[in-house]
Amino acid sequence: MKKKPIILGIETSCDETAAAIVQDHKVIAEKTTVQILHEAYGGVVPELASRAHEKLLMSVVQSTLRDSLLTFSDIDGIAVTHGPGLAGALLVGVSLSKGLSISTGIPLIGVNHIEGHLWSCELAGEKVPEPFLALIISGGHTMLVEVNGFGSYHFLGSTRDDAVGELLDKTGRMMGFGFPAGADIDSAALSNTETPIKFPRSKLTDDPYGFSFSGLKTSVLYYLKDRYPEVTKNSKGFVSKGFDIPSSERIAICAGLMAAVSDMLITGINNVLKKYSLKALVICGGVSASRYLRKKISEFAEANSVELYVPPLKYSTDNGAMIANAGIHHYERGEFSNYDLTVNPALQLTNIDRY
Ligand code: KG4
Ligand code: ZN
Repeated sequence: MKKKPIILGIETSCDETAAAIVQDHKVIAEKTTVQILHEAYGGVVPELASRAHEKLLMSVVQSTLRDSLLTFSDIDGIAVTHGPGLAGALLVGVSLSKGLSISTGIPLIGVNHIEGHLWSCELAGEKVPEPFLALIISGGHTMLVEVNGFGSYHFLGSTRDDAVGELLDKTGRMMGFGFPAGADIDSAALSNTETPIKFPRSKLTDDPYGFSFSGLKTSVLYYLKDRYPEVTKNSKGFVSKGFDIPSSERIAICAGLMAAVSDMLITGINNVLKKYSLKALVICGGVSASRYLRKKISEFAEANSVELYVPPLKYSTDNGAMIANAGIHHYERGEFSNYDLTVNPALQLTNIDRY
């Protein structure tokens, strides 16, 4: 039987410095370093992210290789995120990958970060039946796509302002959480035992598969402004403007926020399913780590006879395994990159039609 390709994946699009070695959609070794230095600034500082990637990436790759008990001679392809993301951060990953590829002769494979998320369920050993509907929810994206196969996408809708992760991180900051705030808001919402605070759900009458979260963000801001004193430090002691909220009230606000988010996402999914006959749904991207959303969307899927697929929790947020996994598809399709591979901070899904 033909040997399945072994792919090294490298991810540096934002604030995770990550590498993984994957064969047959199974992870052989991996390492992800989250750059916590950004916490002090309440958001990712692009210049600091690039410098941290420069400092960390080679040792992250070396330690992944060491843990795999393989050498470069065993690796069949080097897959690297070349967009979308922060230009300087992407450049660190792409430059190192090119250097490794040139010095070892291993083919280079440029990977789209969104496509990495899109196929991350395969890392759970799942083959999602095609065509399927994918909801990509991360710090930078909120998008509904009909997936007909690897590289064959039909764009349905996206957010016209904030991405869901961005909404959570920004409202989290207002509530005094550290950065990023998504996981803290999620845990708070799940632990709530009071009546959740009611926030309005935005509807785009002209775009049933699109989203808008800026109205919700403003509603949370005014809700807090009307009730709580302003503070200049967050719960981690970093300088950050927010509001001083008693903890049980903060929990009920988080529950209200997550309820609004899940209703709006489910409305978008439901609108697609009313029009398109799709039997499988994938949710992926950092916000798909939300146990609150997983529960709500899984209840919806069950009630609507749709099969739900989610990546393993640790592959929801940025990681090298999803990049190596997408690299396997490119390798098998004979799609390799030249050394003129450039970074593209605004890279879209390719082969996506918008009819
Ligand atoms: O995919 P990702 O790691 O990076 C981007 O490509 O943007 O997503 C990061 C986003 C952040 O906004 C973070 O707050 C959110 O994912 N996030 C979560 C959870 N874990 C991370 N949101 C809700 N619940 C979580 N458990
Ligand atoms: Zn991501």
